[in-house]
Amino acid sequence: MSYERDNIRQMTGYTSGEQPVDASTLKLNTNENPYPPSPQVQVRLNDLRIESLRTYPHPTADPLRDLLAVTHAVHRENIVVTHGGDEALRLAVTTYVEPGAAFGMTDPSYSLYPVLAQIHGARVVKIALDDNWHLPRNFADELNEAGANLACIVNPHAPSGTLTDTDRISQLAESLNGVLLVDEAYVDFVDPALRYDAVRLVNAFDNLLILRTFSKGYSLAGLRLGYLIGAAPLIEPLVQKTRDSFNIDYISQQLGEAAITDRAYAEQTWANVRAARRLLRDDLLGLGFAVNPSQSNFLLVEVPLALPMTAEQIYLALKDAGILVRYFDTPLLDDKLRITVGTEGQNRQLINVLQTALNNCS
Ligand SMILES: Cc1ncc(COP(=O)(O)O)c(C=O)c1O
Repeated sequence: MSYERDNIRQMTGYTSGEQPVDASTLKLNTNENPYPPSPQVQVRLNDLRIESLRTYPHPTADPLRDLLAVTHAVHRENIVVTHGGDEALRLAVTTYVEPGAAFGMTDPSYSLYPVLAQIHGARVVKIALDDNWHLPRNFADELNEAGANLACIVNPHAPSGTLTDTDRISQLAESLNGVLLVDEAYVDFVDPALRYDAVRLVNAFDNLLILRTFSKGYSLAGLRLGYLIGAAPLIEPLVQKTRDSFNIDYISQQLGEAAITDRAYAEQTWANVRAARRLLRDDLLGLGFAVNPSQSNFLLVEVPLALPMTAEQIYLALKDAGILVRYFDTPLLDDKLRITVGTEGQNRQLINVLQTALNNCS
């Protein structure tokens, strides 16, 4: 006899990216920043005293909220700090979606979204992207028709890296009846010349939430720290009602404060990743792959039929050589690989292994 709720019994959980077998594995499968966190984070960690852990941390992480508010030119009331971006997504689903109502997303998208919606007993409505991985024109209409209480889009999109511009985000927020959550997990890697800035829209729309994380841009995936930015009435129930009590531990609050205070260091890593992304894309194109232009810290790499190996074979050959990349065995993606941009040295290692594997097969 099973005690699980019906929807939990019927669903499958989230599958995390593979973990490395040992320290020599080159991990290009889960979009971490290839550079270490700011040295200021190490300093703060060294300064932590064990006796600080005896008492509960600040329940809503206000000192960190205040630093984030200054960073984004908003107010403390516009920010809720969460246990990774993933908790932010869970909070959005549990706070805004009536059980049984519709939850909207694109197909493909972040594979955690449907898992969270299914746990909550929501109906998942997936809208296909167009051929260039852009949002289709009818996105808002279809979701309104389905009665979606919440729609999540990733921008820049995962797994393609395509960026939707601020005007289109604005149109969507305007036309959707429910809440629009723009998941900006990878936004730090967007070329600043594009002047993308959706945060400024939170003052104009009462249904817009922006998700940010320390996992990618600040090289702190191991810490589990994220946040949402939105209009104060949208943020208030998350802070006051649905968040876990003390959802951010003391250590995370301290290290998050150090990381955001040394944003200049993180910005340098973003510039490095952008430069490495350009070179890696050129090298992959040179080997005969088709590579979607990306504003993220990963590339979606299509393996054309003209090449002597399939995407799955390349994924396995790389794994044998100690390099992990992401292969999705799903209809739209099974001829592609999602490869995290590493340092220039790591990318060179990847290209050399790819070149050898392709040569051996032709
Ligand atoms: C699109 C997207 N959103 C959100 C997240 C959540 O990141 P975290 O929980 O590490 O902050 C991820 C992590 O990979 C992601 O890919």
